[in-house]
Amino acid sequence: MRISIAGTGYVGLTSGVCFAEWGHEVCCYDINKEKIDGLNEGKIPIYEPGLEQLLDENKKRIIFTTDPKKAFKFGDVIFIGVGTPSKKDGSVDMSYVDNVATDIGKNISSYKVIVNKSTVPVGTTERVRNIIKRYYNGEFDVISSPEFLREGSAVHDTLYPDRVVIGAESEKAKNKMREIYEGKIPGERLFITDSKSSELIKYVSNTFLAFSISYMNKLTRKHKDYNVEELSNYFREKINPKGFFSVGLGFGGSCFPKDVREFVSFCDSINVDSGFFKEILEINEFQKLFFMDKIKKLEKGSTIGLLGLSFKPNTDDMRDAPSISIVKELNKLGYRVKGYDPVAMDEAGRVLEGIAYSKNPEELSKNVDALILVTEWDEFKKLNPSVLVSNMNNSLVFDGRNVFNKNKMDGIEYYDIGRGGKSFSDKDKKVDEFLGRCKEFALKLEEVCDKVGANYKDVLKGATLDSRIGDNVFKS
Ligand code: UDX
Ligand code: UDX
Repeated sequence: MRISIAGTGYVGLTSGVCFAEWGHEVCCYDINKEKIDGLNEGKIPIYEPGLEQLLDENKKRIIFTTDPKKAFKFGDVIFIGVGTPSKKDGSVDMSYVDNVATDIGKNISSYKVIVNKSTVPVGTTERVRNIIKRYYNGEFDVISSPEFLREGSAVHDTLYPDRVVIGAESEKAKNKMREIYEGKIPGERLFITDSKSSELIKYVSNTFLAFSISYMNKLTRKHKDYNVEELSNYFREKINPKGFFSVGLGFGGSCFPKDVREFVSFCDSINVDSGFFKEILEINEFQKLFFMDKIKKLEKGSTIGLLGLSFKPNTDDMRDAPSISIVKELNKLGYRVKGYDPVAMDEAGRVLEGIAYSKNPEELSKNVDALILVTEWDEFKKLNPSVLVSNMNNSLVFDGRNVFNKNKMDGIEYYDIGRGGKSFSDKDKKVDEFLGRCKEFALKLEEVCDKVGANYKDVLKGATLDSRIGDNVFKS
């Protein structure tokens, strides 16, 4: 098939390269000329393992352009993958999607299926349809098919997805979409619903995963002397081995914080009480500064070293990275900050102020008064904390991702998160409490679906097809 993609960021580029890998002809469009020039020379603008090689293997089937006419004439199906950042009030900035829709309307002259892949509020399918209609009066369809790829494993997630959600009203459009995935992913993984439900599934999936993380993180504050990490393992055993139950310095990235903020703002806009979802964000903000009370005991002017800056390992993405809040707070409290990250230091340079960079963990540890491990890069798992500490002024280590073996910390003042000495004796009760909260989540969702005319059962099903969520959580 011939496929066009508008927006060559993480989502657009990975999708484009993977479609080419499946044998489709692909045209990627972006307004950023530098990006497109680089891609035409085979240079990938993001750090994403495996993507550059896959592009190289498929370059015969993929073209890059800044020309909207060429781009939107090219494909039978046009995916929209431009950014949808949050505005200050938490609502979505739709201007990029609107611009692309306008360009599509102005440049098409035959039947096209236009697919919203960007994360967009419920009702955007209709919005895009109306914009295109202003400029083009021929036949076309607009549908929704949200992305679920994780940075760092974006290629794998695209080629082998848990599910592809397609929200469409038109049979013709559904069939075009089936053609793209036919023989590439197992048929039962294509989940077809209406466009509103599809739009909601994206928000619900990410809000649920963020909820699981905040639920566990809250326990680390409430039960300081207890081993929450052990409880996380019990949850994996009883509920879902892939569940997002790991405790730490909170979640970040281009999706979770933004999607939950937007979902809250969306609930407010339809008069559904958003308190349940707001709490997810509040816990997360708190969690990023987990160690501050202890750090505050250091003299002003002390130097703190940060191991890891990106929002998670295997990406250079700094969007909503916990390190941003940590650096700001340390500066505010009068500390000097140094940092090291295996790949994100260029990106960090663009977003962080008040930080100096080191070439490696050893250099970072020299003469610092404390170290905070912020991102669990594999490289850090191999470090010997005793060696690092021998370079430091104080032997103070804060392990924000529970990477180090706490039994090998002799002579080190070591703090981790949720690994207190006591075991929960009522683990099954804790599982039931969590499932009770999941039920509250589902009830809220039912209210949202009722208000906007989405299919509650489909939204729940679409979300639980994500293997990290699974259907155990909403059984009751
Ligand atoms: C994606 C989704 O699109 C977003 O909705 C989701 O919530 C997060 O993930 P991502 O691919 O990470 O966004 O965005 P980004 O890396 O910022 O790429 C967007 C691209 O679109 C950029 O290359 C930008 O230059 C391009 N763009 C933006 C256009 O081509 N046209 C525009 O009008 C605006
Ligand atoms: C996310 C979604 O998972 C993906 O489906 C898509 O919608 C884009 O957004 P991504 O942001 O790349 O992917 O990362 P993900 O691996 O989901 O992690 C998100 C954040 O949660 C990270 O900051 C990570 O450190 C944190 N996390 C994850 C935890 O704190 N605990 C966990 O158990 C899992």
